[in-house]
Parts: sequence; C-alpha cells; structure tokens
Amino acid sequence: MHQPLFERQVYVQRRRQLQSKLTNGIVLLLGNEDSSMNYKDNCYPFRQDSTFLYYVGIDQPGLAVIFDLDENREILFGENASIDDIIWTGPQPLVQELAESVGITASDNLAKLASLLAAAREAKRPIHILPPYRPENKIKLASWLNTSIPQLQTFVSETLIRSVIAQREIKEEREIAEMDRAVSISADMHLAAIQQARPGMKEYELAATVEAIALANYGRLSYPVILTINGQTLHNHYHGNTMQEGDMVLVDAGAETTMHYAGDLTRTFPVGKQFTSRQRDLYNIVLHALDHAVSLLRPGIQYKEVHTQACIKLAEGLTAVGLMKGNAAEAVEAGAHTMFFQCGLGHMIGLDVHDMEDLGEPLVGYDDQLKKSTEFGWKSLRLGKTLKAGFTLTVEPGIYIIPELIDRWKAEQKHSAFINYGLLNSYRDFGGIRIEDNYVITDTGSKKLGKSLPKSLNEIEALRNGI
Ligand code: GLY
Ligand code: MN
Ligand code: MN
Repeated sequence: MHQPLFERQVYVQRRRQLQSKLTNGIVLLLGNEDSSMNYKDNCYPFRQDSTFLYYVGIDQPGLAVIFDLDENREILFGENASIDDIIWTGPQPLVQELAESVGITASDNLAKLASLLAAAREAKRPIHILPPYRPENKIKLASWLNTSIPQLQTFVSETLIRSVIAQREIKEEREIAEMDRAVSISADMHLAAIQQARPGMKEYELAATVEAIALANYGRLSYPVILTINGQTLHNHYHGNTMQEGDMVLVDAGAETTMHYAGDLTRTFPVGKQFTSRQRDLYNIVLHALDHAVSLLRPGIQYKEVHTQACIKLAEGLTAVGLMKGNAAEAVEAGAHTMFFQCGLGHMIGLDVHDMEDLGEPLVGYDDQLKKSTEFGWKSLRLGKTLKAGFTLTVEPGIYIIPELIDRWKAEQKHSAFINYGLLNSYRDFGGIRIEDNYVITDTGSKKLGKSLPKSLNEIEALRNGI
C-alpha cells in the first residue's frame, strides 16, 4: 500500500477545512507532471506541486483531484501503469489505492476528468483553479476547460487562493518539526563549507560539498546553491571562480527534506583564516541588524516594520563607518539605504523555499491592510504583512556593494545627503555579505529553526582556524 507523507487523517482534515471555506462549484487541484529534459523518458527530477502535496500528500506525477462542493465528493484522477510502464518502472500502486491511502474514496482516469469538466462548463457551474505555473499544466488545463492559455486567468479563483494561503501559512506542529529537520541539514551543509574552504579552491568544488550533504540525508537542494566570492550579486549561480586569500565567500544554500520542506540559510566567511578589518566592520553591521530584527519578531507586528527597523540598524552601522551620513531613520525614509541593501529582509518558507509564491506575492506576503510598494528596494520585500503565530520565515539582512549602482547613483548625486560617495568608491570591489536564518513565530515571539550554526565573527574565525 502506498504511504502518504503524513498519516491519512491529516489530509482528510486539511481538505475538510479548505472545503468549509468555499461555497459552491468544483475545485480542481493539479499535481505536477514529469518534465522532459530532451525526450519523454529522460526527465528532470520530479517535484510535486506543493499545494497538491499539502492537501493530497501523494508524491507522484500525473495526478489531479477535484472537490465537488455541490455534491460533496472528492475524486482523484490519474492513469494506472500499463504493463509496458511496469517493465521499466516496477510495480506501481493503482490510482484507487493512492486515493484510499489519503482518504479519498473515488478515483477515475483523466478522460473522465475531461468529460466531468466539460459537463460542468455546460451547466455553467463555477470551476476554481489556482494560478498554473508549469507549461504542461497550462496546456492540459486549456484543453480541459476548452479555452486559451491566457484565458485560464478567468478560472483562477481569488477565494480559493486566499483560503489556501490562510491554511498553509500557519504551520502545523508536524510541519514545524519537519522544517526543523530541513534547517538542521542545511546547517550541516554550511558548516562543511565553512570548514572546508581553502584558498586556491574553485567555487564549484565547495558547492559540490554543500550539495552532497543534502543528498546524503536522502533530501536534495531546496534551490540552486549560491556559493560565490561575488556575494554582491544577490542570486549568483556562477561557480567558476577561484577563491583567494582576502576574498569572502557567500554561501546561500538549503536542503529540501524527503517530505519536501525547505531550509534557506546564508553564511559569509573569509577564504583565509580571518576577515579583513573592513570585512569585520561590515559583517558586524549585518549581524546586528539580524539580531535586532529577530528581537522584534512576534505576532501582531508587520514584517514591513521589522524590515524598516533592520534597515535603520544597517544605516546606523554604515554611518558609524563613514559610508553613510545624517540621520539613519531619515536616510531609510528617503530610501538611501537601498544603495547597500537592495532587497527585502525575508520571506515565508515552508514546502517551497519562497513559500506559496506561485499563489501570488501580493496575497502571500501582503494583506488587505498593506499593499506592496513599487519603490526600488521596497518592491523586493516579499513579506510585509502582520505576523501570526505559526508563520515560518527567513530573516536575511545584507550589505551588497554593487559597482554599477554606485556609478549610476553617483552620476545623479542621488541621496548625496546620506551617502558618502568618496569613501564608498574605495569599497567598490568589496563584494557582499548576507546572514540568513529561519524562524517560526510563536505565541510570544519567535524561535530559531534547526540546530545552531555559528555566525559571530569569533565563531566563524575559530572554524576557519580549525578550532
Ligand atoms: N535563497 C534565496 C533567498 O534567500 O531568498
Ligand atoms: Mn537564501
Ligand atoms: Mn531566503
């Protein structure tokens, strides 16, 4: 018998709760397909859709489920393996067995799904879908709903999206335990990188060490490893540089467990045994911003406010070393800190590293009280809304010295009341620093997820010295 990820009753209750929030029509949730690299049987590693995993718990390609709200029934759709399939892939559970394993009593094949949807359209019954993001699923949906891919938007249900977010954003204890595991494996990946980096090594050699630990834990990466001496490039996936004495390495990497929960940690450390004095100063500024942000985490505070306060801490530190000037809070109000911190303080994390972002950042990271800003820097804050107990999120302040941005802004003398361009120019090859940890919001504050991973200057240098 097929084993769902959590026990059967978990999925029965989650689906019951979702259906209680919706009134009528048909909810259609699609699992993902295998996706070909070059021909049908040579596929990228399969990754199930996270919402499908959350409500159905079956980690297999080619499935779809409907909840018929009017007739109060659930049906799982898919194709049973043929004898040809079984020769290549071994015995497979029947779709009916998969359905029963998660408490769904009815199952059928995909042709039946197509005819059921055609009949529902004919009868003008509402059909609710989530925003599709995989080309394969867009093509299938357009065919089943007898519409074009752009017109699929008209079937996307905001009520369904909001209901799914409201449920998935509050993590259950069992999910938090699994995320703790994901973050602990992620911490092991980072510890190995900090201990094994040597001057003269290639970035890809160290990236291989990081990925091997995810695989050795029967997991995989929750996103492609960022491991670079050019940490100022926020999502830098190039691994071809040689790491040299004097450089810092920024490693942003996380594990995805077999249950598909993600970790997302970042550490920045020297390739040599010690940070330079400039690196020490800016490292401590980022660390203080992180500590301050974490001290503010609690239910009821807007994450945008936590971001703002972290930005003020960064600006204060940058003022102390002479890179910024004037009043830090005013500098942040004006947006001058975005010369150094161009992105957001963090995001939701869970079954996806940027949890639920396929459902739309404006609804996942914001709410009816708070709309997302379109300003430079602020527009990259993925999470702004009021925190609730049970949210799991990242806190990831950084300082990124981007030469191209210095040149653009300096030419316009942008924010010159707050930025010391003379000194900043001497930092243009500095690189970037990010420190990132993952937290769960508790009833009174927050708790860090996963085992502890060194982040103070002294701890990092001790590791670099093999202590
Ligand atoms: N790993 C990408 C991020 O930190 O959001
Ligand atoms: Mn990260
Ligand atoms: Mn992150």
